[in-house]
Order: sequence, then structure tokens, then C-alpha cells
Amino acid sequence: MVAKGVDIAPAEGKLGVLLVGLGAVSTTLVAGVEAIKRGISEPVGSLTQMGTIRLGKRTENRSPKIKDFVPIAELEDIVFGAWDIFDDNAFDAAMNAGVLEKDLLNQVSEQLASLKPMPAVFEQNYVKRLHGENVKTGKNKMELAEQLIEEIAKFKSDNGCDRLVMVWAASTEIFLESSAVHETIESFEKGLYDSDPAISPSMIYAYAAIKSGVPFANGAPNLTADIPALTKLAEDLGVPICGKDFKTGQTLMKTILAPGLKSRMLGLDGWYSTNILGNRDGEVLDDPENFKTKEESKLSVLEHILQPDVYPDLYEGFSHVVRINYYPPRGDNKEGWDSVDIFGWLGYKMQIKIDFLCRDSILAAPLALDLALFLDLAQRAGMKGIQEWLSFYFKAPQTAPGLYPEHDLFIQLMKLKNTLRHMRGEDLITHLGLEYYD
Ligand SMILES: NC(=O)c1ccc[n+]([C@@H]2O[C@H](COP(=O)([O-])OP(=O)(O)OC[C@H]3O[C@@H](n4cnc5c(N)ncnc54)[C@H](O)[C@@H]3O)[C@@H](O)[C@H]2O)c1
Repeated sequence: MVAKGVDIAPAEGKLGVLLVGLGAVSTTLVAGVEAIKRGISEPVGSLTQMGTIRLGKRTENRSPKIKDFVPIAELEDIVFGAWDIFDDNAFDAAMNAGVLEKDLLNQVSEQLASLKPMPAVFEQNYVKRLHGENVKTGKNKMELAEQLIEEIAKFKSDNGCDRLVMVWAASTEIFLESSAVHETIESFEKGLYDSDPAISPSMIYAYAAIKSGVPFANGAPNLTADIPALTKLAEDLGVPICGKDFKTGQTLMKTILAPGLKSRMLGLDGWYSTNILGNRDGEVLDDPENFKTKEESKLSVLEHILQPDVYPDLYEGFSHVVRINYYPPRGDNKEGWDSVDIFGWLGYKMQIKIDFLCRDSILAAPLALDLALFLDLAQRAGMKGIQEWLSFYFKAPQTAPGLYPEHDLFIQLMKLKNTLRHMRGEDLITHLGLEYYD
């Protein structure tokens, strides 16, 4: 029986995608969208653009494209805006990031050059390695938030946008833990007036977005909107939010492989992961306080997938080490090595080695696009607060308090697609399939 589904407003008019940080990921996203719009390239890596969704029984042969199944904004309707501490336009920033070839960038240079970053909310203390001049000033953090709120409204009207979303693709901030000032919206707003050091710039952007009714995704591991004050505000104001930390290279591989090892009841003694990375992100993460934020995010996945408490004989006390080394010659082309020590039948030891020669921003850009489009869809479908169905995209997914996150990529994908089926009133797919043998 097919249920009715959810009322979803159509994706009419322009969608403004506001990017915090106009670095490697953001410029690769903007240039990519322009190249795809012109038919120069294909949207490889993007589920919203290339993915299909099976509906009904396997015998029905119904597998539409996701973008034909749910009303997702067209790439033609996207307008980009950005903030950065450097005032380079998106063309210069993309050249500087060195991810995409000059030839491709030249073909979309006009669109890129016209995207100029607005002055950022930034404080050196949270990203020690960066020094930029394109920065807002104000007498306290609340005043900075108010400036962002005004800018968001101005961007919307200047560009004739119908709706907006915001994606944090700026540098990883230093490690912060949730504390009293993050507990309620009252304590948080008081903290903004007092310029409380526990409120980082990313929290100010998230607050401004949510106050403006703009969905917010956090592509970095910073605490940002993962605090009670902001998740509650998002729920109260009907704004979808999600995070944290795009799941791209090494952690993507980990969450593909670990569920497979567990499904075969193979044990794990240890998983050693190291990366060399030479872009600006690598430089920022070279600072121990910023790396700590990333490390926490990267470390959490294996514990949750392998459940040592449920399978102590297989996974109790396994060693998990994650390192990132800044190595300039590699630029954005990261190399991630994993040495995985497993054991099988009767405890016999085996090893798996992974050497992923990846391209960080090539992997991240389609995720940023999907998140912008799915968050906009969620808002038009009346969804609010934490969007756990988007955990597919994150290393450290935000969840309701007390709920452990799902890290297994395949469970995450099933959750995502079942959410879309639910929105449309289609049967959820359980893979039981007994009816085929009746
Ligand atoms: N590329 C990936 O695979 C990947 C995966 C997961 C997470 N991330 C995260 O995404 C973020 C972006 O990565 P990137 O490779 O584009 O980094 P990048 O260094 O090239 O770009 C980040 C940009 O943010 C700007 N910035 C810093 N603080 C800011 C602020 N407060 N306001 C506005 N702009 C600010 C910087 O000036 C820089 O231009 C990083 O935090 C990174 O850790 C990337």
C-alpha cells in the first residue's frame, strides 16, 4: 500500500548557495557547476545528479533518477555567494588552490571572476596558521552576527533568490567542547554579546543562517551547530541543519571496508592511517589544536561501526591511529595509507594495505553540491533541525542527543534513499524479498 507522502513545495525560482570559505573545495564546486551547466563535464560523484532510486519490487523495473523523483533545484537556478578572509575572486582563488586545470578554469573564468567574497567573520585564535585582511569588525560577536544576517538578506534580494542555503567549507577551527554557553539560546546570545571565547566564528555563521531561516551544512569537523542552543534554535525556527566533516578520502574507504570485515566476523587488531597533504587545509591541520578537531572526527568511525562492546572477542582494544602530515609538493592530491591488521579463523593474522592516491577537493565538491540541494529539498518538505538522513556525507554525523551515529556507508545510503521514498509515499525497501518465492 502506498502512503500519501509529504507535501513538498516546488523548487521554483533561484537557489542561493552561500559558501563560507572560498578555498579549494568551494572553488572546485563553483567551477564544476559552471562546467556541468555548459556540458563541458559530467557531475561525477554527485548522487543528486547521477543517482537513481529503486521503487517498488525488483520485478517492477522502476528506477528513476533521484532528481526526477524528488523536486531538486536545477543547477541553472543556483547562484553562489561566499565569504573569505582573502579577497581573491573565485577565479584567482581556484588558480591558487591548483585543483583544476587552467584550461577548464579559463572556460568558466567570467562566472568565477564575478564571485567576490564578502568580508569574513574571523579570529586568528581559531585558525592559527591563516592571516587575511578581508575581515569584519564589530564591537562584539553579536554585532558580527547581525552584519551577517543583513548581508544574507541583501544577497537574497540583490540576486533575486527565492531560497538560500549555507555550507561551511572554510578552514577547520581549533578543538572546542560543548560548554555552558552552548546550552541554551539565552546563554548563547548572552555569550555573543560578551564575545565569549567558546563561541567560534563558525558558530556565528551558523547562528546567522538559522536566524535567517537558511539551512546550514557543516563540511568541517568544528563543533559549530552541533550544540544544544543551535540545534534547538533550528528546530524552533523550522530550519534543517547537518554536519560534520565531509566524508571523502581515507574515512570514506574506512566506512566502506570496516562494515565488510564486520559482516564476515573478521577481527581487528589495529588500523593505522596516515596522510600526506600539501594544500592550505593541510597547512591549517598542521597546527596541533586544529588537527585535534580533525582527529576526533576521524577516530570515531571505527568504534561505532565495529561495536567492540557487542563483539569483544573481535574488536575489543583494537589500536586506531590517524596522522596527517603537511607535505607541500603534493598540493591537493592527498595520499592516504592504511595498514590494517586483521585476524580470521582460529585467530590467524592477516594484513590489508590501502594506498589511496586521491584528490581531496574532487571528492568533496560533489558532496557540497548534494548537501546544498538536499537541504533545500528538506526545507521545502517541512523538515527541521538535525537531518540525520544526510549522515551519508559526513565523518561525524550530527544526531539527536543520546543517539549514536550510523557510520556504515551502506546503512547511511539506505537511510537516505528510504527518506526520499518516505517523502514521496513510496514503500520503504527492506530487502526482505520473500514475496519473490511465494
Ligand atoms: N577536501 C576534502 O576532502 C575535505 C574533507 C572533509 C572536510 N574538509 C574541510 O573542508 C574545509 C575546506 O577545505 P579546503 O580544502 O577547501 O580548504 P582551503 O584552505 O582551501 O579553503 C578554506 C578557506 O576558508 C577560508 N576561511 C578560513 N576561516 C574562515 C572564516 N572564518 N570565514 C570565511 N572564510 C574562512 C580560508 O581563507 C580558505 O580560503 C576544511 O575545513 C577541510 O578540513 C575537506
